[in-house]
Amino acid sequence: MEKIQLHDKFFVPYISNNELESIIDEVADRINRDFEDKGIVPIFLCVLNGALMFTAAIMKRVHFDAELVSIKMSSYAGTSSTGTVLIPLGLTGPVAGRHVIIFEDIVDTGNTIVALKELLFSKGAADVRICTMLSKPEVYHKPDKLDYVGKEIPNRFIVGYGLDYNELGRNLDGIYIIEQ
Ligand code: IMP
Ligand code: MG
Repeated sequence: MEKIQLHDKFFVPYISNNELESIIDEVADRINRDFEDKGIVPIFLCVLNGALMFTAAIMKRVHFDAELVSIKMSSYAGTSSTGTVLIPLGLTGPVAGRHVIIFEDIVDTGNTIVALKELLFSKGAADVRICTMLSKPEVYHKPDKLDYVGKEIPNRFIVGYGLDYNELGRNLDGIYIIEQ
């Protein structure tokens, strides 16, 4: 991995694809333990676009029946949160009476998952859990518990493995952090 440029900014290697794969293995193991042999068919809810790769990676590792629903949400412009959560594409399937696991690339302020949980319960979801590849605990002050967290990182801007800087960088197979 080496330093890269996206638009006007430079990013340096932070989490290799190897490390990401083992983080994802651990998260998938925990989800398998919680849902295997429970007789529940949960809905995996992919929060587009960022969680596309993470959701796919987890799905390949689970050993029980699960369905996939997506939603597109956005709250970032450039390298910071706008505080407003937009939903350019609503839920692609029904969730009434279902156990839903939200898959996020990263939980930052938590505005996105709080808005999403509200939406899911308003549509009749029976239970909602949150699974995120990464989290920034320094800026997360919501009461909602993060059920599955791959790795905690400092409050700095990152790209890769689904995460973008103004739409670039999603295709990188590792995580890169903004150069100070
Ligand atoms: P929150 O609503 O503040 O928790 O922000 C969550 C969303 O913001 C994530 O789903 C990402 O799309 C985006 N986001 C947060 N931190 C970063 C980052 O460091 N790089 C790229 N996108 C980020
Ligand atoms: Mg996102």
